[in-house]
Amino acid sequence: MKIAFVGKGGSGKTTLASLLARHLAAAGLPVLVIDADINQHLGVALGLDEAAAARLPAMGDHLEAIKDYLRGDNPRIRSTASMVKTTPPGRGSRLLRVVERNPLYELLERQAGGVRLLATGPFGADDLGVACYHAKTGAVELLLNHLVDGPGEYVVVDMTAGADCFASGLFTRFDRTFLVVEPTRKSTAVWRQYQGYARGFDVNLSAVGNKVQTDGDVAFLREQLGTDLLVHVEHSSLVRAAEQGRPLSLEALEAANRAALRRLREAVDATGKDWARFTRQAVQFHLRNARAWANARSGEDLATQVDPEFTLGPDTLRLAATP
Ligand SMILES: Nc1ncnc2c1ncn2[C@@H]1O[C@H](COP(=O)(O)OP(=O)(O)OP(=O)(O)O)[C@@H](O)[C@H]1O
Ligand SMILES: [Mg+2]
Repeated sequence: MKIAFVGKGGSGKTTLASLLARHLAAAGLPVLVIDADINQHLGVALGLDEAAAARLPAMGDHLEAIKDYLRGDNPRIRSTASMVKTTPPGRGSRLLRVVERNPLYELLERQAGGVRLLATGPFGADDLGVACYHAKTGAVELLLNHLVDGPGEYVVVDMTAGADCFASGLFTRFDRTFLVVEPTRKSTAVWRQYQGYARGFDVNLSAVGNKVQTDGDVAFLREQLGTDLLVHVEHSSLVRAAEQGRPLSLEALEAANRAALRRLREAVDATGKDWARFTRQAVQFHLRNARAWANARSGEDLATQVDPEFTLGPDTLRLAATP
């Protein structure tokens, strides 16, 4: 299952992504975590020290290698250069599994807090507001578009704040999206904005309250979010202590917060897989992207990259090139 954490800046996306990932890993389940945020904090939230976090390989620096690998021998993709962030997989493409050895994981993956971590890499001042910024999350989009996750396997992505991910199809690449909401009006406004953008795209969106301190906070979230509020996480002195440099042990986490993590997992597990939608939207955003800029940039008609016979899913693994 592919899971995203989104929400207002500072709402707790990184904290909750790292806690859920560790909760799943502690249950012995396969988890792959991706830091796709502008502010790369997930490594540290998972327990790496700053120096180790700074040494994480950046997916953004290896875009060519990612494209070259995933392209495989798909005849519809003429060259690595003609593969753009939305180029969908087709027959001959290399597909990824959550658990396998492949050159991409070998190049990019590191262990952090008992889970496997991939990171887009920090965003320089030059990246913000221009196409390069999207090139970095483009690496994540490519990866997710080629990833066949089986039942009981989890991919947890810490996303960028607010609604930035709507600049591409990235927001449709998840089976379940958790929008983290603090009990504040600014935070619930981000919820409504995201919900508005996502409408019409079959996004399974749930609100997750965070930093809740009082009954008044709970009442506020319920009043603002109604039944969209899946669960809330309380303000945690343990999370605060971790922020002050003490190691965070999951067993020591407050009982209510551990119960909230179980609830998140249940919600993910109760979500149906819809490979047909996943594939259809990959194609939809690719065609949109091709028309908007990618055809002009590449000098090709990138609509021809779409393989009409192909639907991503467990059945198509056998059609793919081998690692
Ligand atoms: N439940 C909680 N209890 C206590 N502190 C929390 C909780 N959730 C998050 N925090 C704290 O709030 C701050 C922001 O959290 P976090 O970095 O997870 O947010 P974010 O949404 O990822 O932020 P950004 O938009 O900067 O990426 C951190 O200092 C974190 O330790
Ligand atoms: Mg963050």
